[in-house]
Amino acid sequence: MTAMNQPFLSVESLDKTFVLHGQDGLRLEVMRDLSLTLAPGECLVLAGRSGIGKSTLLKMLHGSYRVTGGRLRLHFEDGELDLADLPAHAWHQLRRDVIGYVSQFLRVVPRVPAVEVVMEPLLARGADAAEARGKAEALLARLNLPERLWSLPPGTFSGGEQQRVNIARGFIGEHPLLLLDEPTASLDAANRDVVVELIREAKARGTAMLGIFHDEDVRERVADRLLPLDRHMRARTRLPDTDPQETP
Ligand SMILES: Nc1ncnc2c1ncn2[C@@H]1O[C@H](COP(=O)(O)OP(=O)(O)OP(=O)(O)O)[C@@H](O)[C@H]1O
Ligand SMILES: [Mg+2]
Repeated sequence: MTAMNQPFLSVESLDKTFVLHGQDGLRLEVMRDLSLTLAPGECLVLAGRSGIGKSTLLKMLHGSYRVTGGRLRLHFEDGELDLADLPAHAWHQLRRDVIGYVSQFLRVVPRVPAVEVVMEPLLARGADAAEARGKAEALLARLNLPERLWSLPPGTFSGGEQQRVNIARGFIGEHPLLLLDEPTASLDAANRDVVVELIREAKARGTAMLGIFHDEDVRERVADRLLPLDRHMRARTRLPDTDPQETP
């Protein structure tokens, strides 16, 4: 898709301010002037204290939060795409084909069995159902999810079991860009090892990854680079339109 070591993702001077409409338009500035690049096959780990804006950055890259300022670009061989102002249908296609995301918690859909939750990203691309099921089962087996659970909806699964379904769903699509929000947080050591392997395999096939890992051992095993967000973030509130000239 792109040549190795040319960036696949570039973030330039990204700003994010939440405007809390329920609170008289209170403004919460969480990010200012963040820049980074990410190449295919590279895993960049976001660091920094709780509330600094790590998940917020991933959510902007997945289109669930709007960008306040700056540029978020994907570089393809045949051109580039700015994510800051994409229409909804373009996001739908990007999430299907380009940007995968393992959220911190599985979003459970009632009555859908675990194996179907995992195969869904492939079916969305029109993959053969039997093949998709085979891949989903192989991933669930690698992640040590007991076979008796595969046909059950994950709503009643334990936290770690749900997270393994979530991880399988995130990795099955082999997206060129993968966002990982603490995928190993509720896993035991053996399953953390499986996730480390999955990440290394994804790297080897050229996946660009942006991840958050609180577990230092996992972080050391997967990170090519560490990006401390502290310099770019200040959880700072100010009242609406108090001082229009304010420039930090
Ligand atoms: N939808 C939202 N509306 C208002 N404020 C938000 C919203 N989402 C996040 N924030 C605020 O933005 C800041 C950054 O939150 P974020 O979840 O990105 O932190 P984080 O670095 O991922 O923290 P943690 O390590 O605890 O997961 C927090 O102060 C949070 O309250
Ligand atoms: Mg977070």
